[in-house]
Amino acid sequence: MVQRIAVIPGDGIGIEVTAAARTVLDAVTAGHGIELAYDEFDWSCRRYARDGAMMPADGIEQLRAYDAILLGAVGWPGVPDHVSLWGLLIPIRRAFRQYVNLRPARVFAGVPGPLRAEPGSVDLVVIRENVEGEYSEIGGRLNRGFPDEVAVQESIFTRAGVSRIADYAFELARGRRAYLTSATKSNGIVHTLPFWDEVVASRAERFPDVRWDSEHIDALAAKLVLEPGRFDVIVASNLFGDILSDLAAAVAGSIGIAPSANLDPTRTYPSMFEPVHGSAPDIAGRGVANPVGAVWSAALLLEHLGHPAAAARIVTAIEATLANPASRTRDLHGTADTATVVDALVAAL
Ligand code: NAD
Ligand code: IPM
Ligand code: MN
Repeated sequence: MVQRIAVIPGDGIGIEVTAAARTVLDAVTAGHGIELAYDEFDWSCRRYARDGAMMPADGIEQLRAYDAILLGAVGWPGVPDHVSLWGLLIPIRRAFRQYVNLRPARVFAGVPGPLRAEPGSVDLVVIRENVEGEYSEIGGRLNRGFPDEVAVQESIFTRAGVSRIADYAFELARGRRAYLTSATKSNGIVHTLPFWDEVVASRAERFPDVRWDSEHIDALAAKLVLEPGRFDVIVASNLFGDILSDLAAAVAGSIGIAPSANLDPTRTYPSMFEPVHGSAPDIAGRGVANPVGAVWSAALLLEHLGHPAAAARIVTAIEATLANPASRTRDLHGTADTATVVDALVAAL
């Protein structure tokens, strides 16, 4: 059976790392009898400059029939980030009810980390609520340019939304080390996060076999630095999960290796796979981006499409590649360029 993949390289290093991910996918799929058919879409800030929109008016409709979406990164200087992101990335997450943003972080053998994390000591997953919370279009700006200018931003937390992300996280923890941490800020935020806490506590009753606790986001950030090996699954709201996933990635060595899966667990709609990092204008076009985050995201895509053996082979190839200093990029204190890493990954396969 041919599975159809929509590829949206996007902007900056998104283009470079998506090409790398496709090369690795091609190298692994043949040997496993997996048939993937790709269609590439040029939806990006370049398209915005040309046509005045990040994607066509029927863009979401075009994507609906695909089995999965592989995305690079969105955003480029000259187009305000709220325009590029709300014109492409965020509408896909929302239209396709990709309410789980799954972001694993691991310290791989040999990879130098900035902190106390020993290789193998950190193996955690941030489960980020991906369609509600602090990311909302509700609010407004008044009196633009005047001294009494005001900006107001509303957060949306629903019982259904918090329940389903908590359930997903508890279920995932059950299959791992059976330990869940819920990120909160109920000591400083009056309405939404006390509600988050109540809903998470009520869902916990269904998972008596999973140990869980709740940590304020400030203290949790500190503990992720001081004792990252303590964590297994962390469930967090949209904004907290965004921040924690870059933090966890940095603890594990670099945001350049961090993958993510934007999942519709009901499988009604296509899910989307993308590295955690952005378009990195500071290094784009030079062929030096770390492709591992995108390649690992491609492994998550294969797993989602029912190919766990092929996915595991990619992860093993990543382990072998990162263990060799000669195939580490500059963000990991190496000197390898993107192509060298891709060659090493393909050789390891
Ligand atoms: P960024 O992730 O693009 O870059 C942050 C830093 O990390 C930069 O110094 C960059 O060089 C480095 N870096 C990131 N990925 C790397 C890789 N694979 N290899 C080596 N180094 C890497 O974050 P930013 O600078 O805040 O954002 C740049 C643009 O990307 C903005 O327009 C932002 O909105 C967008 N963005 C998009 C996504 C997405 O599409 N999912 C995610 C984050 C940021
Ligand atoms: C991410 C990114 C996006 C987010 C931005 C670019 C809107 O930081 O995927 O982590 O906050 O979701
Ligand atoms: Mn982010």
